[in-house]
Amino acid sequence: MSDFDYDLIVIGAGPGGYVAAIRAAQLGLKTACVESRETLGGTCLNVGCIPSKALLHASELFEEAHSGALAKFGVNIAGAALDLGQMQANKAGVVKELTGGIEYLFKKNKVTWLKGKGRFTGAHTLDVDGQKVTGKNIVIATGSSVTPLPGVTIDQQVVVDSTGALAFDKVPAHLVVIGGGVIGLELGSVWKRLGANVTVIEFLDQLLPGMDGEVRKEAAKIFKKQGMALKLGTKVTGVAVKGKKAMVTVEPAAGGAAEQIEADAVLVAIGRRPNTEGLGLDVIGLETNARGQIEIDHEFGTKVPGVWAIGDVVPGPMLAHKAEDEGVAVAENIAGLTGLVNHDVIPGVVYTHPEFASVGLTEEQAKERGEIKVGKFPFMANSRAKANRDTEGFVKVIADAKSDRVLGVHIISTLAGTMIAQAAQAMEFGATSEDIAYTCHAHPTHAEALKEAAMGVQGKPIHI
Ligand code: FAD
Ligand code: NAI
Repeated sequence: MSDFDYDLIVIGAGPGGYVAAIRAAQLGLKTACVESRETLGGTCLNVGCIPSKALLHASELFEEAHSGALAKFGVNIAGAALDLGQMQANKAGVVKELTGGIEYLFKKNKVTWLKGKGRFTGAHTLDVDGQKVTGKNIVIATGSSVTPLPGVTIDQQVVVDSTGALAFDKVPAHLVVIGGGVIGLELGSVWKRLGANVTVIEFLDQLLPGMDGEVRKEAAKIFKKQGMALKLGTKVTGVAVKGKKAMVTVEPAAGGAAEQIEADAVLVAIGRRPNTEGLGLDVIGLETNARGQIEIDHEFGTKVPGVWAIGDVVPGPMLAHKAEDEGVAVAENIAGLTGLVNHDVIPGVVYTHPEFASVGLTEEQAKERGEIKVGKFPFMANSRAKANRDTEGFVKVIADAKSDRVLGVHIISTLAGTMIAQAAQAMEFGATSEDIAYTCHAHPTHAEALKEAAMGVQGKPIHI
């Protein structure tokens, strides 16, 4: 009989944790997963990826129907009206189905859900709401929470974080978004489409930090054109709530005169930080780094033998698919197999209209490493995009000048999020731009723009 209750206990049932638990159980390990939420699926399924995409889709449909944008296709819709209650109920239904789906998968794979908050009392021992459980291995997959802005109190009524902004029961007349990153632009887009005036306040001089410079410039043009007010290079110094209104005080990031902006709602979206508080890391001698993350080795092991960590709580992009892949890999490593994640090829997508997707190096990063060639193709010249009246954006392929190996791909398009998978797969297989250029792509599709951008690396696109 084993000395431990479980071969593996995972703390946290987000995309990192639930995937690690399922994979471990598939590999024959006796597995439990500790989760304190009422439902499984973590931030992503409950208050992140899934509800935000449900609202992005629904709000896009509303805007198309309501704005008259379909008239050019000969589709006239009179009297389209918003039923926000139904939109929110639909979102809640999607979340319920998917979180329930994880519960089903746990049962199917015989993963035990230990309901409650987990805390280390030893390297192999956890306290889960007063109950002691032991595991030969423990994976920390506790995820992240919103980074607070000093001096700004989130009340989830007037001043909200992403969770509050997913749950408004009426459209705010003026929504001020603090932070021009992924959450600010996705949720800002939702409420803009549903009728709010949206002002985005971003500390840096461009939106979407970390993305390719050209893409970031284009993003500013696109969101301005959609009617968002952008205050770049601006910092928020305070938010005062009076009744149902907020007064947001801002000033230039570089210093200068302060200005006040009145808002009906304020969304704080200035990043997320790892969840390690109350986990008892000190008990097992595990520290966090300057960014609050748990440091790991190549196999996702921490410096404490038998304790592993994955997902938002460790370094790297805070993305669900990165957490999931790490979940598979850590379970395989614990089971004695070789689990790897190629962190150089993690796609990122902003699900606005159009979408912004990227994988690999930005042009700026690639230039720092050596000589490069860049091919670019606009959707203006893509026949399917033309037919759909959907010509905003471009594809950019960055390749090593000598080896022609693809180093990065950046796409702005309504279908960018779907298209980027091809680029990621090509890069995972070590493709050159020529490999993509000589791959037959179906016509007419948006994907042909990727082929043409790859042809452009050698200076020879056909359709431009
Ligand atoms: P989490 O999903 O945060 O899960 C951690 C879980 O651990 C939580 O359920 C928490 O309750 C539990 N937990 C924590 N501490 C304990 C404890 N001590 N005991 C028991 N349980 C504990 N990413 C994408 O890739 N695509 C998207 O479209 C996307 N959209 C997003 C939209 C929003 C609004 C937000 C906020 C995030 C979005 N993300 C998106 C990011 C994505 O949600 C995270 O990267 C992902 O959820 C991280 O997974 P994780 O398993 O590391 O942690
Ligand atoms: P973010 O890091 O994407 O953007 C935060 C922005 O706030 C940055 O541009 C930053 O410069 C700015 N900022 C910071 N302090 C500020 C201040 N005081 N005043 C004004 N601006 C300030 O973080 P965000 O949007 O909160 O999202 C958190 C994480 O969640 C993302 O990093 C991403 O990993 C994940 N996410 C992913 C999504 C996706 O994949 N589609 C969707 C939503 C979230």
